[in-house]
Amino acid sequence: MAVRRLGIIMNGVTGRMGTNQHLMRSIVAIRQQGGVALANGDKVMPDPILVGRNADKLKALAKRAGVERWTTDLDKALADKNDELFFDAATTQMRPALLEQAIAAGKHIYCEKPIATTLDEAMKACTAAEKAGVKNGVVQDKIFLPGLLKLKMLRQSGFFGRMLAVRGEFGYWVFEGDWQTAQRPSWNYKKAEGGGIILDMLCHWRYVLDNVFGEVKAVTCLGTTHIPERWDESGKGYKADADDAAYATFQLDGGVIANINSSWCVRPYRDDLVTFQVDGTHGSAIAGLHDCMMQARQATPRPVWNPDEKQPLDLYASWQPVPDFSTFDNGFKVQWEMFIRHLAEDAPYKYNLREGAKGLQLVELATQSWQERRWVDIPALPF
Ligand SMILES: NC(=O)c1ccc[n+]([C@@H]2O[C@H](COP(=O)([O-])OP(=O)(O)OC[C@H]3O[C@@H](n4cnc5c(N)ncnc54)[C@H](O)[C@@H]3O)[C@@H](O)[C@H]2O)c1
Repeated sequence: MAVRRLGIIMNGVTGRMGTNQHLMRSIVAIRQQGGVALANGDKVMPDPILVGRNADKLKALAKRAGVERWTTDLDKALADKNDELFFDAATTQMRPALLEQAIAAGKHIYCEKPIATTLDEAMKACTAAEKAGVKNGVVQDKIFLPGLLKLKMLRQSGFFGRMLAVRGEFGYWVFEGDWQTAQRPSWNYKKAEGGGIILDMLCHWRYVLDNVFGEVKAVTCLGTTHIPERWDESGKGYKADADDAAYATFQLDGGVIANINSSWCVRPYRDDLVTFQVDGTHGSAIAGLHDCMMQARQATPRPVWNPDEKQPLDLYASWQPVPDFSTFDNGFKVQWEMFIRHLAEDAPYKYNLREGAKGLQLVELATQSWQERRWVDIPALPF
């Protein structure tokens, strides 16, 4: 067995996603487990160099992660031929330019979503990567969540019969920042800085719908800014002008209707911060991030509408848990491992920049639907 080194330039790792999910939960965890195993028994060991603007933060993070290399000089890092993969989890607005710079330096690409803030920029990055012949991938973490994997298994097994509708509820209360600090960065609430829940979440819903429930064919969306004033990381008030809630309906392949509410202004009374309920002719299921409950048509209770008495049925009682059918690892890590196999042994990998661009397409068409107050069809991307 040989151990092969993979040099990864990791940009934006001092941020929330970069530190928690990509560095600690993925790359550090992969290093601790001895690398990524390939089909021939060899292993790939990631050797990251952390890149950012603040030397003190990088130094402290490198120490915490047990990583030796860090730098504030991205150009120099990109010039090092020994590091073949560029990863970006910094701001969305800077991403397309950074991707193009890394592609021009001959690096393979892996990055957070959205891959850009517009479809046009996203397509430019895709085309550049394809022309240069570099491998490329985008984070599509939600489909690796146990709850969604369970729904996918139910669908593939024919459990639902004909799927009718999908109801998605995503959201939680993000504090305004005045009397409690906000749980999300302030740029999320500023249009000019790449904020907005449509840009943030519809990228996710595109690949979730396409991969788990059926390809998206049309969208109607109503966005809004429920909370117009917030307070930033330093306690300073600012005008929150980006959309903080979006109420969207999608038509999917096969006639399935999906409705997903996304909101940072909701106090959830449900089992998880995101839930998807699927109703089909033969059965229904509802999943959160981890768990999934199902109800077959034969176990469907027989409610009778009667406003004169309190609900006599325990509507929860006839649902059954979908057992864990695997040991589910962190979704970000699972996807990192897939991408590393794609790099090292050309293992199949679907979630490339073009798939990421589809997310931006949905964002733009949903926004158009909101502005023009109408349904918008989703055409095939101009490949
Ligand atoms: N996959 C997911 O579920 C998910 C969830 C949240 C965010 N994201 C995406 O991850 C990315 C980062 O989001 P976050 O929530 O971690 O944000 P964050 O603000 O916590 O982190 C942003 C990072 O970019 C760096 N940065 C900011 N401005 C910079 C500049 N001018 N030059 C160089 N570096 C700069 C910051 O120092 C920080 O390291 C975004 O693209 C976001 O859309 C993905």
